Amino acid sequence: MKAAADFLAPVFSRYPLEVVSAQGVWLTNSRGERVLDLYGGHAVAALGYAHPAWTAALARQAQACQFQSNAVAMQVRSRAAERLVRFSRLPLASVFFVNSGAEANENALKVALRMTGRPHIAAIEGAFHGRTAAAGAVTWGAKAKGYGFPRTPFDVSFIPRGDLAAIAAQVTGQTAAVIVEPVQGLAGAVDLGAPFLTALRKRCDEVGALLIFDEVQCGVGRSGEPFAANLYGVLPDMLTTAKALGNGFPCAALMMSPVVSATLKSDSLGTTFGGGPLACAAIEAVLDAIEAERLLERVQRLGEYVRKTCVVGPVSASQGAGLLIGLRTTRPAKQLQAELLEGGILVGSASDPNILRLLPPFILEEEHVDMLSGALRDLA
Ligand SMILES: Cc1ncc(COP(=O)(O)O)c(C=O)c1O
Repeated sequence: MKAAADFLAPVFSRYPLEVVSAQGVWLTNSRGERVLDLYGGHAVAALGYAHPAWTAALARQAQACQFQSNAVAMQVRSRAAERLVRFSRLPLASVFFVNSGAEANENALKVALRMTGRPHIAAIEGAFHGRTAAAGAVTWGAKAKGYGFPRTPFDVSFIPRGDLAAIAAQVTGQTAAVIVEPVQGLAGAVDLGAPFLTALRKRCDEVGALLIFDEVQCGVGRSGEPFAANLYGVLPDMLTTAKALGNGFPCAALMMSPVVSATLKSDSLGTTFGGGPLACAAIEAVLDAIEAERLLERVQRLGEYVRKTCVVGPVSASQGAGLLIGLRTTRPAKQLQAELLEGGILVGSASDPNILRLLPPFILEEEHVDMLSGALRDLA
């Protein structure tokens, strides 16, 4: 007989782990054992699991009103948009809420192409932006990996990572936008750094192209600042974010500068579920908790602690920013990932086969990092 799980499309390779419940940074598997979660469900569980304020906010909103579309005003939606802009500490003017990171990027690219009337988008080698048509088109290696569609909906070219000299040839008067993850996530926590991001900003200004930061993975505090844009002091025209934004309630946002916002009018963009009240209640709870619990400082402190203590055993170096960390390994990372999981620690991998990727909840403590460094030492 077919098992229940066999009714799911066979598109995911799964870890040998079935989770039945979770609390704080701990998962409980179906055998009743605890697993330390240093992966946070692909960077989603920023507040960890069963966070009381987040759980209460969702329950309150579910009781008050679970859904109304964007055609109907709701205070929770307006509050979430204002909260997100203020949290960002960036001079951004408006927020378009959607449901996923790919959808946020899709809309950002649409806005840029329409606004400039140009045919070309530049992206960065190694980038991952999602699996929909436009997001897949600007994802590096999409064809080989099947991330995108057979043809791209606009012209695309890629700039080698960190290659300042290559920027001018790829970003021209034909370019509508440059899209970039300031810290590349799936690539293995590759921090592109202030000089490269500043050079992109400068070139976009020279040719009249827009700069889009994809902070789906590195945003909402994961870099130790509200956004990586704050960390590097580079201001994009549009910023997309998702993952940690809802702590597990699906949601995403496209944030826009005053100039970009001013080009939009009624019906320019649309969505049914984006900006739903449950998502907005989750967003408010996440941002409130990050500020009230001073989680940005904790991300900075714990990120440094990981870098200081976890370059041991089969780990030869570390990279990334805040709690988006890549540990470079001397053995295949997938092998080490499996061995760590056998010992009760869940970590991620990356498209780089020698990188273990850590995306832990922001509520992480030093003792959890000590468990990882101890386990790594034992794996030497
Ligand atoms: C940087 C980045 N952009 C976009 C996406 C796509 O987000 P989603 O899976 O929510 O569509 C991801 C997902 O991993 C991501 O890491």
